Amino acid sequence: MALAAKPPLGWNTWNTFSHEINEDLIKESADAMVASGLKDAGYEYIVIDDCWSLRERDENGHLVPDPEKFPSGIKAVADYVHSKGLKFGIYSCVGTHTCAGYPGSYDYEFIDAETFAEWGVDYLKYDYCFKPRSADGPTLYRRMAMALRNCGRDILFSACNWGEDNTTEWIRSSGAHMYRSGSDILDSWQSIKTIAASQMDMEKFSGPYCHNDLDMLVVGMYGKSHNGTIAVNGGCTTEEYRTHFSLWAMMNSPLMIGCDIRNMTEETKDILMNKDILAINQDTEVRTPCWRKEWDAVPETVMLMFKPLENGDYAMGFFNFYDDDCGGRIHFADMGLPTHGYGLRLYDLWEHKDLGVFTDRYHVVLKGHHCKMLRASVVKL
Ligand code: GLA
Repeated sequence: MALAAKPPLGWNTWNTFSHEINEDLIKESADAMVASGLKDAGYEYIVIDDCWSLRERDENGHLVPDPEKFPSGIKAVADYVHSKGLKFGIYSCVGTHTCAGYPGSYDYEFIDAETFAEWGVDYLKYDYCFKPRSADGPTLYRRMAMALRNCGRDILFSACNWGEDNTTEWIRSSGAHMYRSGSDILDSWQSIKTIAASQMDMEKFSGPYCHNDLDMLVVGMYGKSHNGTIAVNGGCTTEEYRTHFSLWAMMNSPLMIGCDIRNMTEETKDILMNKDILAINQDTEVRTPCWRKEWDAVPETVMLMFKPLENGDYAMGFFNFYDDDCGGRIHFADMGLPTHGYGLRLYDLWEHKDLGVFTDRYHVVLKGHHCKMLRASVVKL
């Protein structure tokens, strides 16, 4: 079956829990995915990241789940996740070891793919640490893709080599369904801003069946990570998380939640389950956004993006990367609208309100780190 026509949606353990994972956490998170409404909103995958196995393979070369963390084994956890109508994901690595030092799949690709299929895995995140220098990265991704495509089960392949070795040039042909082409996210505004800016030129390589992954979301973490490499004191403000989510949605990134979904604030739920924003990310055509730098006064502050949607509408996003108020505008002619006879009806995707019909252009002033997300419908005047 063809997987990942649209950017995958789910949750991953890494950002909040790091190595502090176990089967109760996974089951409780699957329960929370359903009870909170995330599943109904479209989130589907529950993914265990690094640190789930023992430090050594068994005598037959198989990976062994850590019996302290997963006393019932991975298959039982996968079965539980499936019983909730969700899909189950796990993690391995191109190299001899994972980034946290557990066994990697180098030279064990086909054995591991078979094991994952037996366990009922639906998604594999595949990292890039401890790759032997003599080995060719693209070949190793091709090898695991081939193993997964022939293991007897549909397993979504999530590549994670951080943009190294010019990922975008070969990743689509490798068979991967999504790929990281940037560095790890931190729970900070600076990190969100840096990733978004660094990935804008990469978007042209992203598309159905192989999506550019801007990294897992930090929405709702508020500095509460147990993960020393991700945590930043205090994290971000709700507005910054809203802008982060809007950027990722607009840029067609997979949306893999990174906060503790068992304990979300109302604001976090409103962000993650904003159906209007999710619809922009999950639009059938997954069109690359066109982006411009449009600011009133201070250079390099307000970014504008727009992209065509399946039904003839356009998604538009204004993002203020500056720390203070700043304005920006869009001239509709730049999107293709004739200069007379037509206008755009604008709908605010965070306020959930119709702003009326505008002709010629739309101008917005945004507070520092804020965004404006709109859906525009073409109207004849
Ligand atoms: C790398 C990846 C992260 C996470 C860790 C786990 O840094 O980029 O997303 O999977 O490894 O060790």
